[in-house]
Amino acid sequence: KSIVILISGRGSNMEAIVRACAAEEWPARIAAVISNRPDAAGLEFAAQHGIATAVVDHKVFSGERRREEFDAALRGVIDGFAPDLVVLAGFMRILTPAFTAHYVGRMLNIHPSLLPAFTGLHTHARALEMGCKFVGATVHFVTAELDHGAIVAQAVAPVLADDDEASVSARVLKLEHQMYPAAVRWFVGGRLAQEGGRVRQLDGVS
Ligand code: GRF
Repeated sequence: KSIVILISGRGSNMEAIVRACAAEEWPARIAAVISNRPDAAGLEFAAQHGIATAVVDHKVFSGERRREEFDAALRGVIDGFAPDLVVLAGFMRILTPAFTAHYVGRMLNIHPSLLPAFTGLHTHARALEMGCKFVGATVHFVTAELDHGAIVAQAVAPVLADDDEASVSARVLKLEHQMYPAAVRWFVGGRLAQEGGRVRQLDGVS
């Protein structure tokens, strides 16, 4: 199986997936890491690990149809690698319905909240502000509606007395680095699929 990972910055989830793919000898390869930002730190890690990298800079596109044009260009680059799975790992662009439809059932995202709570940005700050006692992250299939696709996996962490946004986000990120590779491994092992908008997990998935 061929996997393409999209990033916008640090790329620590991408790194966790690349490492797990090699260490656990998945029946898959990371065909490319693609960023919408030329300066995304994660691009260097990918290149150092012999993975093809590409940049589709969203800032090049302007005007009313910039989202459609960016998505069309991005899709062209992604499809050049013929992926079975597209993994969004800290990819900070809102995608058009045409784009998400093209990858239906074969695109995953990780979002740093316990969905359906706190879609969008600043999830941990908003959770702390609300007095939440637990925070977490969610892996889900991507649909046209932002952060709304069928849920594949969730990880939960407690909020402690002295927590701030940084400490909570570090605690959750550690869990993301375990959960996201596990979910991707399920998919490439044929143990995870999306059918009729719902997640189907086959035997052996825990
Ligand atoms: C993670 O918290 C992820 O859940 C969110 O953005 C962050 C990306 O971090 N979507 P990284 O680029 O994987 O280090």
